[in-house]
Amino acid sequence: MIKTKAVFIVMIACFINSKLLAQFIHIKTQHNSLIFQVDSNNKLYQTHYGKYINQTQGLEKMTVVFNEAYPSFGNGSSDEVAVMATHSDGTMVTDLFYVSHEQNKQANLQSTVIHLKDEKKDFYVDLHFNAYTAEDVIEQWTTISHKENKEVVLSQYASSAVGFLATNYYLSHFHGSHSKEMMFAEEHLTNGVKTIETKRGVRTTEYENPSFMLSLNGKAKENEGEVIAGALAWTGNFRFAFQLDDKNRCQIISGINPFASDYKLKAKEKLETPRMVLTYSDEGKNRASINLHRWIKKYNLRAGDQARSIVLNSWEGAYFSFDATRLKAMMDGAAEMGVETFVLDDGWFGNKYPRNNARAGLGDWQVNQKKLPAGIEDLIQYAESKGMRFGIWLEPEMVNLRSELAEKHPEWIIQRKNDRSPLLERNQLLLDLSNPKVQEFVFNVIDELLTSHPRIAYVKWDANRHVQNFGSTYLEQDKQSHLFVEYTKGLEKVLERLVKKYSRTIFQACASGGGRVDLASMRYTHEFWASDNTDPYERLFTQWGTNHIYPPIATAAHVTKSPNHQTGRQTSLKFRFDVAMGGRLGMELRPEDMDEEEVKFAKEAIATYKSIRPIIQFGDLYRLLSPYDQNGYAALNYVSENKKEAILITYSLNHHRRYERCFVKMAGLNPDAVYEVEEINKESNKSVIGFDKQLVSGEILMDRGIWVDLRKPLQSAVFQLTETN
Ligand code: DGJ
Repeated sequence: MIKTKAVFIVMIACFINSKLLAQFIHIKTQHNSLIFQVDSNNKLYQTHYGKYINQTQGLEKMTVVFNEAYPSFGNGSSDEVAVMATHSDGTMVTDLFYVSHEQNKQANLQSTVIHLKDEKKDFYVDLHFNAYTAEDVIEQWTTISHKENKEVVLSQYASSAVGFLATNYYLSHFHGSHSKEMMFAEEHLTNGVKTIETKRGVRTTEYENPSFMLSLNGKAKENEGEVIAGALAWTGNFRFAFQLDDKNRCQIISGINPFASDYKLKAKEKLETPRMVLTYSDEGKNRASINLHRWIKKYNLRAGDQARSIVLNSWEGAYFSFDATRLKAMMDGAAEMGVETFVLDDGWFGNKYPRNNARAGLGDWQVNQKKLPAGIEDLIQYAESKGMRFGIWLEPEMVNLRSELAEKHPEWIIQRKNDRSPLLERNQLLLDLSNPKVQEFVFNVIDELLTSHPRIAYVKWDANRHVQNFGSTYLEQDKQSHLFVEYTKGLEKVLERLVKKYSRTIFQACASGGGRVDLASMRYTHEFWASDNTDPYERLFTQWGTNHIYPPIATAAHVTKSPNHQTGRQTSLKFRFDVAMGGRLGMELRPEDMDEEEVKFAKEAIATYKSIRPIIQFGDLYRLLSPYDQNGYAALNYVSENKKEAILITYSLNHHRRYERCFVKMAGLNPDAVYEVEEINKESNKSVIGFDKQLVSGEILMDRGIWVDLRKPLQSAVFQLTETN
């Protein structure tokens, strides 16, 4: 009641104020402000997004340079728009005006809705904002609806539009391909529109990730300067447009990619766009990453406060060639080294069309009787008898043409129609998740598996192709353009049901490696497989990019065999562990292939990881030396929230001169604290810092730095820091 009254008062005040003086709508967190202004014509402008502003007086004088809060097509501007609609009478002009707004504050969350309406049509846009005080994160999304007498066609429906004014802008984004995901790139924005997008529909993050960092007034630095970081919570096609105009304003419009996705909206239907997650830092990129990591762990990742177990996945150790004896031998070795979860990857299913390679069996989720005559339960029990949990691989959205499922339900397959031949990728096709029957099938596949084997503790959800055969037999003829959007919504519906029912089962998002590294997938999963490329040298680059936005706790990183299966590069077991330890540590090899020395090292490394796991998985990550900087070193440190413990990991990537050292200044420590610094995960007794244990103040470690004697290519050292006073 009190809340309703307060809202009402705000609305009245808004009405009176709008006619008299500049009215601001202030969306705020501890250090960030996003401010909108309603002008005397009831037009809504964004006047500020950046550092927290306490005193807004005079801000209206600055508004002239900014765009409308949610730019629409037809209101006079020729810039990128957030919304474009063909109204029921065929006209295409939309001109939005402020109607009212509501704000609420509860604990860490301030929520705001601003209601806009077209000047002439019964066409409505609500702008929603959730501002998380402590993490300095703002989520923005919109709902679009109308009461026109026929359908309205939306051909642009962005989640967010934010603008900045600075002297120059540098855009950092993360691009790649299979086995080369999340490569960091920074570029100077010049006039025009730079877009980052995908049109692939599924497995959407492999080539370009729906995230970015934008630095104002100079290149982004780790610990200084103004940076805005953003990520879209949508695991489908996305598009971010960065428009730099003649007034040197930069406007970012982000949301679902409207490409081939005109969306028809009936009267009273609502289209809710995905959430765009933004943070602003005036302490450089690293603070922006920490804001996102903290927010993701608390609000966007399943069980972000629970430690992740150490996994041994069967893929690179066995591929499709296994039987129960081989798997049990792998489990023996895994358990001996201290692994906590054994995951059976691809190849365990299909009988009429056995899954002995990637050409057959996808869709037939019955245990292969030849390989595993005693079934999955036998494996689960064996894993548990060894003190481990058991996990399993699935790719439930997909089908091989050589499968019983494809024979039974060809109409469930996404297809080009008109007898056009299907375009295959990895010999497989996509099931049409816009179809509720397919959603039910996919749900049931997993539901039946998890009900008949309630002790399956972990599901790896893979997806190995994108949409190329565009066409749905389920969607009506005039709604084919909904396929990209409805597929993604269908997938989310299934995942939503599953995680509700199986709230304790761990889910991994995998899509040929890092094809589903996004905030939407993360809402339903505990971790993602960052890349099929497990070469530790290459992984350093991928993990470096990935952890700009997404936290290490969710970044599955596995120690595999050397020479590496993807690149042929040889690396020491220590180097492989030191890279994988930077995220959620796991292994992916046949333990029988390891010699005694290696098993001994792995056992100790796993025990070490267990002891430092809380710092890596729950601490803050600071990037110190970038592998991209080409000085041949990389370094990062993790600091516990109370700053009493830290882990420093240093890597040498190249050969260095005789007296050259990895010189690294740590970050995020308590300058007044004295830390005991000790090298851990050592291969030999030789020290790379000239001492075994040493007391050093936080101030010295951060301002003066430490020298690490790493000079050979692919060498690494890990240090544990523990506060002593
Ligand atoms: C692609 C995944 O990224 C791999 O880890 C593995 O699960 C294979 N698919 C199995 O087909």
